[in-house]
Amino acid sequence: MRLDGPVPPPTITIESHLASDWAEGAMREDIASAFAMRPRVLPPKWLYDDRGSALFDEITRLPEYYPTEAERSILSQRAAELAHFTGADSVVELGSGTSDKTRTLLDAFWEAGKLKRFVPFDVSEATLINAAEMLADRYRGLEVHAIVGDFTRHLNQIPSDGSRLVAFLGGTIGNLYQEERQAFLGAMADTLVSGEWLLLGVDLVKEVPRIIDAYFDSSGVTEKFIKNALVVLNRELEGNIPVDQFDYVPYWDPRQERVDMRLRALTAIQARLERLDLNVVLEANEEIHVEISTKFRPESLSAELSDAGFELDRFYTDDRNDFGLFLARRM
Ligand code: SAH
Ligand code: AVI
Repeated sequence: MRLDGPVPPPTITIESHLASDWAEGAMREDIASAFAMRPRVLPPKWLYDDRGSALFDEITRLPEYYPTEAERSILSQRAAELAHFTGADSVVELGSGTSDKTRTLLDAFWEAGKLKRFVPFDVSEATLINAAEMLADRYRGLEVHAIVGDFTRHLNQIPSDGSRLVAFLGGTIGNLYQEERQAFLGAMADTLVSGEWLLLGVDLVKEVPRIIDAYFDSSGVTEKFIKNALVVLNRELEGNIPVDQFDYVPYWDPRQERVDMRLRALTAIQARLERLDLNVVLEANEEIHVEISTKFRPESLSAELSDAGFELDRFYTDDRNDFGLFLARRM
């Protein structure tokens, strides 16, 4: 910690790019189109209300869920090198959540003495504000500029001054479908200027049983997290979908190398989403696709990064080769 002289007060700005009625409006649109298509595919950003964010936090502490600790171990080993090598004075974190692991990274940037600003960016306002307060208190003198926004739409709202490193950790890029991922990387490249950095954490392809265990944990927390998608819909859209009439079914899709987390109706369902004036009719065994989690091979992700306009500078992994951290530079 830099503690020479009087300790400055915390400096926080919170900027929201989601209008107060955004959740309602965007959710209505998303859900109306999700239920109009076959199969029904829900956008995963609606998983992260307060309960969903708390459940995800619980997932990160499950013995079966290896990605968080694997990424933390890479960050602990490499953070100082990243700070010196990139020389960035502004760190942006997309899908920052609690920014828990990020402290490892920020500690090193702070020690290196150049860091001026941290920009946590998340769709979940309450989690973001808690994290921003914690960080502004930890790094006195650091400008914490929190952005409430959607990283598939609002990357252009990231402050552009300084030399930036954008961290997208946790493997969250794996929750985007392939077309969305391509669009995201393109938008990221448009946002950064030549020489700026992207630090991308991804879960790697490995033995399938370990992957399945991570998404089908014995204590049932992941099941609650995925079923929370329906709880959110019932609450926000005045619905009566019977959540306990669904089974949680995670599949491994070997072709796309991703976990596909679905909810399967145990019986025929006839429910209503009142605020959409929509009847939700499902046959027994019909499935709702809630979230995917793609696992990556370093070579193919490097190719995607380079197609998007990035040059790969560093690739780090942990002792078990479970997780990968890519440092790429905008060309
Ligand atoms: N980075 C943390 C948290 C990962 S959980 C970690 O590595 O543990 C995924 C986070 O992304 C959640 O905090 C969720 O609210 C956020 N998120 C999901 N979709 C988003 C979107 N479209 N725009 C912004 N944030 C999003
Ligand atoms: C946030 N994201 C990287 C998690 C993952 O592993 O894909 C979300 C998650 N879903 C179920 N468990 C964890």
